[in-house]
Amino acid sequence: MEKLTGKKIDTAVFISGSGSNLNSIIKNSLKKNFPIKISLVISNNKNAYGINYAKNNKIKFKIINSKKMINFESKTLIILKKNNIKLICLAGFMKVLSDKFIKDFKYKILNIHPSLLPKYKGLNTHKRVLKNKEKFSGCTVHYVTNKLDSGRVILQKKVRIIKADNEKTLRKKILKIEHLLYPKAIKLALKN
Ligand code: GRF
Repeated sequence: MEKLTGKKIDTAVFISGSGSNLNSIIKNSLKKNFPIKISLVISNNKNAYGINYAKNNKIKFKIINSKKMINFESKTLIILKKNNIKLICLAGFMKVLSDKFIKDFKYKILNIHPSLLPKYKGLNTHKRVLKNKEKFSGCTVHYVTNKLDSGRVILQKKVRIIKADNEKTLRKKILKIEHLLYPKAIKLALKN
């Protein structure tokens, strides 16, 4: 892993959907002392609402919706290189990156997941958490490996579940925490 010093690090955020974490990362990145600049947004879904945050902030965005992951990855790597990208933040990105992509990129790749990993990897997290009558859930920012939601944890935050919670309220509560946790974790990851 190459060491990075000096000016703000050119960062790409990968999204597939609503992009509320993207929005929070953009807002933080505009602060003087925040270590990254969002230079590129990549979406594998042309209808992702999050693309609007890129547009509104005049950030370059690319829609790469190749069906085969190998094609998505080779196109993406070329664009990342062209834009001098040295950090990737996955934020609601619904695909699993291959080991080859992760090695070829050479720099750090982070992801956020709405559970207390290693518990509840994968989809329908809140539904499964509620079904199991858990007292707590939360969110985790971690390094990305080629195994779903499995790399080393950078930061994690617990959220208490109350009786009245349903999927919608839990998602909302946790998203609010995600928006604070991801920027903190980015700072931390870049210090190490
Ligand atoms: C978040 O809950 C994130 O943890 C998960 O997908 C959701 C994305 O939300 N990976 P948004 O697109 O950032 O609004």
